[in-house]
Amino acid sequence: MAANRKILSLPGDGIGPEVVRQTLRVAEWFDRHRIASFDVSEGLVGGAAIDAQGTPLADQTMRRALEADAVLLGAVGGPKWDNLPFAQKPERGLLRLRKEMDLFANLRPAMVFAPLVGASTLKPEVVTGLDLLIVRELTGGVYFGEPRGISTLPDGTRRGVNTQVYTTAEIVRVARVGFELALKRHGKLCSVEKANVMESGQLWREEVQKLHDSEYPTVELSHMYADNCAMQLVRNPKQFDVIVTDNLFGDILSDCAAMLTGSLGMLPSASLGAADASGRRKALYEPVHGSAPDIAGKDAANPLACILSFAMMLRYSFDLRDEADLVDRAVQNALGSGARTGDILQPGMQRISTTGMGDTVLAALEKLG
Ligand code: IPM
Ligand code: MG
Repeated sequence: MAANRKILSLPGDGIGPEVVRQTLRVAEWFDRHRIASFDVSEGLVGGAAIDAQGTPLADQTMRRALEADAVLLGAVGGPKWDNLPFAQKPERGLLRLRKEMDLFANLRPAMVFAPLVGASTLKPEVVTGLDLLIVRELTGGVYFGEPRGISTLPDGTRRGVNTQVYTTAEIVRVARVGFELALKRHGKLCSVEKANVMESGQLWREEVQKLHDSEYPTVELSHMYADNCAMQLVRNPKQFDVIVTDNLFGDILSDCAAMLTGSLGMLPSASLGAADASGRRKALYEPVHGSAPDIAGKDAANPLACILSFAMMLRYSFDLRDEADLVDRAVQNALGSGARTGDILQPGMQRISTTGMGDTVLAALEKLG
């Protein structure tokens, strides 16, 4: 068996610890069946880290994340910490991880599992068979641009500033990920910005087109304004294969895409850095849903987005493709058997707990494995 794979688990806040717990049961299942072993250690991030260590991400945790083969993150944030000064908010912990690990490419697949077609708020014919992938730029744009801040004007009123900024290098490296993934899928890439009102969007469009013409002429490239993309996602989402977009538009459009699948509780993500000489990339995996404070601690959250994020880890960090497929199939079978957490509950089906969904996925793994 390959050397132990080092995973740093950062459960974080709200429902984070609950969904991560069920996910680690899946990792333990692989260990127990001697299929793959993982060396999992745990750390603090977000509000949990603020409470225990006075900061949303301690330097020592940052170091451990940089040393790990992969980071598994639950969720950060909650009302308890909402009134903290900006630089001390739980979210800063997550943003620091993304920035210092240089995780510029955020992959957010939105797939509609057949048994969940009825859970979507959209008509079945609009979402049946949907399989799209959003590649969101994750370390630039308005999330990190300078200048930023709130200042007081001479008349006593205030002014808030954020800066949207992208360089050629930042655009090209994430666009390249989009093109490469399109080549492995259905060969289509849609690049999204607001080139009609933003210079950074105009640059984005030009650089993506240039990269297409010089290196990826066989990919069918289109450009779309972000507002139109939001509309097209709910009008006819199956027109998309891969979407590549900036940090802020990607944040918004991926929540929208998530709901096509029935619930935010179904959408996994992988955040990847550049490959080093040995082909190894820094990587962080997290469900797209947040900390959901309203249901935290009630064993009511849907752990599937986190479990599917672990499947992405198997695929992208450990090259365990069959094992990743196995997890995907176990999730599919769990849903097929009628297992539903509250967020994807449909008439006539039984509502089960977070732990119950974990049990069902493990039982499906047992059957498949
Ligand atoms: C996401 C989240 C984060 C973001 C928050 C928690 C900082 O909404 O990962 O989509 O805005 O990127
Ligand atoms: Mg978001």
